Amino acid sequence: MTQYDSIAEQYDQSVNTRSDREVIFIPSAKHFLGDLHGKQVLDLACGSGFFTRFMKEWGASHVVGVDISSEMVELAKQQEKKEPLGIEYLVGDVAQLGKIGEFDVVFGGFLLHYASSVEQLELMIRSIGLNLKPGGKFIAFNENPSVPTHSGIKYGVKVETEGPIQDATKVKRSHYVGDKFDFVIEHFHYEPGTYQRALRSAGFTEIEWTNFVSASGPDFDEKYWWDFLHDFSVAVLKCCKGT
Ligand SMILES: C[S@@+](CC[C@H](N)C(=O)[O-])C[C@H]1O[C@@H](n2cnc3c(N)ncnc32)[C@H](O)[C@@H]1O
Repeated sequence: MTQYDSIAEQYDQSVNTRSDREVIFIPSAKHFLGDLHGKQVLDLACGSGFFTRFMKEWGASHVVGVDISSEMVELAKQQEKKEPLGIEYLVGDVAQLGKIGEFDVVFGGFLLHYASSVEQLELMIRSIGLNLKPGGKFIAFNENPSVPTHSGIKYGVKVETEGPIQDATKVKRSHYVGDKFDFVIEHFHYEPGTYQRALRSAGFTEIEWTNFVSASGPDFDEKYWWDFLHDFSVAVLKCCKGT
């Protein structure tokens, strides 16, 4: 039983209703994944397939989704049955995945910070490298190692840490809908240098942490979303597998 098995339905409902998905995460995934036409894409920590389905719709020739939670994968498979896109879903722990293919792009949507130790983080990153073609791209949405926490409830999220902020410090991330508590998930913090070393030793180059991008247009409330885009507890990691 993984922590997401018990909150699978709740989490799935949350991703399909939260405004940050619409105005920040979907535009950012599209932006950072780039042109997926004809590409082989691996979505690690695919959950109920929220981003996985977009990747196929954005033109990828083949998409495989992997998640450690059988309940989350079950929800993804049910959706695939309802509206078939030709996505393959597997239950598996990224740290133990081994090589399942040669992908042009790997996406880890809130994956790496679930590693419970530096060793687990290194194993996850090694698995990602194993499954990428030389020159292939790894994009992650992740805890922001430079802003691991913030005070109060910001954007429906409260973040609390247990003990001093250092490698493998436990982080409690509580989700709220308005003022109402929805669910809590636990993950771990790693220092920027720890991510950097693990990525370098697995052969990654052009490693960069960057801000999310947002939707544009007259309806986008720039002032409201400013902190999310510049000073929030999640960020984007982009890098390439060396050739
Ligand atoms: C915050 S959810 C994100 C799901 C999806 N990427 C999304 O954004 O909708 C994190 C997911 O990571 C998965 N996960 C955690 N540790 C994992 C591991 N070691 N291997 C594979 N999946 C893992 C959880 O089961 C959960 O579905």
